[in-house]
Amino acid sequence: MDTLTAILTRRSVRKFTDEPISDEHLDLLLKAGLAAPSACNRRPIHIYVIRNRLTLDILSHNNINARMLAHAPLCLAIVADKTLETYSDLRIDDGSAVIENILIAANGLGLGGCWLGTLRQQRWYKPIIEQLKLSENMVPIGLIAIGHPNETRVPGERYDETKIHFDDK
Ligand SMILES: Cc1cc2nc3c(=O)[nH]c(=O)nc-3n(C[C@H](O)[C@H](O)[C@H](O)COP(=O)(O)O)c2cc1C
Repeated sequence: MDTLTAILTRRSVRKFTDEPISDEHLDLLLKAGLAAPSACNRRPIHIYVIRNRLTLDILSHNNINARMLAHAPLCLAIVADKTLETYSDLRIDDGSAVIENILIAANGLGLGGCWLGTLRQQRWYKPIIEQLKLSENMVPIGLIAIGHPNETRVPGERYDETKIHFDDK
């Protein structure tokens, strides 16, 4: 699939088959993630690969919006190392660039993925820290559920010209 098609046809996929993600696909997803741009090229983002069924089950609890992890063969947790940052305000930007790269790459490979936002005030936050054994300087930015799609998502028409502002019109 060409790049633009992978971007324009990407949808969140929340239903997965039991088929595991191959090592080859995982490797490509990780490379796509770490190819993302990064503020001041500080590259504070780490990716935690979660394939253990029990861990996936635990992470599917305490957050109704993350239930699909109970049926996903893979979760990638995107985590920022605070000690590598120049500007903490750009932490989420760095992590989001990694997440979107991975979601587009997954679509291009015929896989499906869904971005799972993490909020410090969620009950879900503590289990993430505990399961990933994150130290004080490691901050979760978001998780991604990934698998072989078991649902068909039609690409939405998202282009809205009222949200585009030309300087010469
Ligand atoms: C920051 C962020 C957090 C999100 N968190 C969740 C989530 O916790 N659970 C979920 O099912 N989808 C989550 N999503 C996916 C959105 O629901 C989805 O992108 C949106 O409905 C548009 O649909 P699409 O991705 O199919 O285009 C999140 C998306 C973003 C950008």
